[in-house]
Amino acid sequence: MKRILIIGATGQIGSELTMELRKRYGNENVVAGYIPSAAPTGELKDSGPSEVVDVTNGGMIASAVKKYQIDTIYNLAALLSVVAESKPRLAWQIGIDGLWNVLEVAREHKCAVFTPSSIGSFGANTPHINTPQDTIQRPRTMYGVTKVTTELLSDYYFNKYGVDTRAVRFPGIISNVTPPGGGTTDYAVDIYYSAVKGERFICPIKKGTLMDMMYMPDALNAAVMLMEADPAKLIHRNAFNIASMSFDPETIYQAIRKHVPDFEMVYDIDPLKQRIADSWPDCLDDTCAREEWGWKPVYNLESMTVDMLEKLRARLK
Ligand code: SER
Repeated sequence: MKRILIIGATGQIGSELTMELRKRYGNENVVAGYIPSAAPTGELKDSGPSEVVDVTNGGMIASAVKKYQIDTIYNLAALLSVVAESKPRLAWQIGIDGLWNVLEVAREHKCAVFTPSSIGSFGANTPHINTPQDTIQRPRTMYGVTKVTTELLSDYYFNKYGVDTRAVRFPGIISNVTPPGGGTTDYAVDIYYSAVKGERFICPIKKGTLMDMMYMPDALNAAVMLMEADPAKLIHRNAFNIASMSFDPETIYQAIRKHVPDFEMVYDIDPLKQRIADSWPDCLDDTCAREEWGWKPVYNLESMTVDMLEKLRARLK
């Protein structure tokens, strides 16, 4: 029986992962952990238990785990890449000191732990095309530094203490529920909002800049599938490359224009975002995830675009 705690349950991924896990495992078995400045509302609040759980406070994590007899923690607390550059100390405190707290509680209470890594864990000297599972990871962003450390520390707790840690390297995630904040890949979400609102989109990333992206339903499925996978089949643990689509701004713009013919886009490059995007892979090789736990995405750019436009039109009209 799974009893799950999600830390960061009101964030971009957490808000949808919490609902997905409640659907799969029962509302009462999935606890939404949040910080007071981002309390759950609406369905997220009403559909199941929630608890103030600040990842930087180990005692809070331990008492939630004891209170609800938690056996699995999804640790989603993090600052995204751009905002982490302006608050590097806080990014480390949340990402790494926070992870340490989670892993210590998991060790004591025998919980499995999922703490995502990212395409941001790679750097400029990583092979950018078909980036292998095991390769150079020398990022220069604080976000990347915390993500590489997350992978290493999670593997350390598995190898040394047997804590069941597993993770994926998420690409830019595109969703229509909770917007991301302060990421390099956010443009690929913002562009849909502009298209639906009938506004001209100002793109901060240069034409020709390829990055891996994924539609939220596939991202949620990846997290759940990996945590359900047979551990005997896992050669890797922290963290698996996963991929479903890779595009540049022009390609997503054209995909949207097929459905919104008068949609306009202009470029106004943000130098920090561009520098970060240039240091990230163009496309990941996800063979290990496919072979070790059966990873397979459902959405491509076209099917995601149709769904995003339909959902946003219904919500924003
Ligand atoms: N979406 C993240 C960012 O742009 C990357 O994992 O920061």
